[in-house]
Amino acid sequence: MNASGVDLVDEILQLKKARNAVILAHNYQVKEIQDVADFVGDSLGLSIQAATTQADVIAFCGVHFMSETAKILNPSKTVILPDLEAGCSLSDSCPAEVLESYLQRHADKNYYVIAYINCSAGVKALSDVICTSGNAVRIVQQAPADRNLLFVPDENLGQWVIEQTGRPMELWKGGCYVHLEFTRQSIERIRKEHPDAPVVAHPECARAVRLLADEVCSTERMIGYCRTHPAKAFIIVTESGMLHRLRRELPDRTFIAGPTENCACADCRFMKCNTLEKLRDALATLQPEILLPEAVRARAELPIRRMLEQSA
Ligand code: 13P
Ligand code: SF4
Repeated sequence: MNASGVDLVDEILQLKKARNAVILAHNYQVKEIQDVADFVGDSLGLSIQAATTQADVIAFCGVHFMSETAKILNPSKTVILPDLEAGCSLSDSCPAEVLESYLQRHADKNYYVIAYINCSAGVKALSDVICTSGNAVRIVQQAPADRNLLFVPDENLGQWVIEQTGRPMELWKGGCYVHLEFTRQSIERIRKEHPDAPVVAHPECARAVRLLADEVCSTERMIGYCRTHPAKAFIIVTESGMLHRLRRELPDRTFIAGPTENCACADCRFMKCNTLEKLRDALATLQPEILLPEAVRARAELPIRRMLEQSA
């Protein structure tokens, strides 16, 4: 409650109405944010929501590249991110200027660049098509057959897509610091404790971990997999926020956090930057706002639109 006796959630809902705002939240957000959001989903679902919303303001509860994607698709709308420090180690592993000079040095390869959505607007602007973990296989299957493929920035997701499609690609050597904390040993240990629970892992995990999984998929597909599977308990090998989403959607099942070497579950420090208080303040002040140079935004929009077309 604040001084005038208004609950924080009520305050957010009132501000949302006054601003004609929509609150979009990624599956890794803290549960209080997931519970107040209009839509909770994976990167693909959030991009589709951002592309179709009628709201004037998009309050994006996720990380920076996600809110940038919303801005790229909505240049005339106000896009706010509760905490600008909400970055991404994977996005940081591929700076736009490093990719640009790589492409210049290897111009003879005439790369078709497929960028995982976890990258900056600058990297998107250098790419031919964007993908998410939910559509990466479909996007790579539709890549021109006569071009060399360069996949940036996640080496593990790229390697998984190669295994699924049989299409060779050169892989940028980037990684998600959260998913790389899961190890073969940590997952083998939890599996011994729960031998009947299928292991469901995100494709950003290392190959040694993916090989132990019964299912490898995006965060959103984890829900569909668990919903239709007869098992009562599942080991979830991804960021901890996903457990709240799964427990809310499937209250009759048990979800066990896949442990890392050092921890019982895995938190993304960037995703956890956002709080209800910061969301309230962002809606009140319309800050921090996501702004982009128009030339970069317009160029980055092309590969995102291509992705949306190719995954429709
Ligand atoms: P999803 O698109 O599967 O939700 O993944 C986003 C992400 O940041 C994974 O670390
Ligand atoms: Fe980036 Fe990994 Fe956090 Fe996802 S979980 S936002 S890939 S650092």
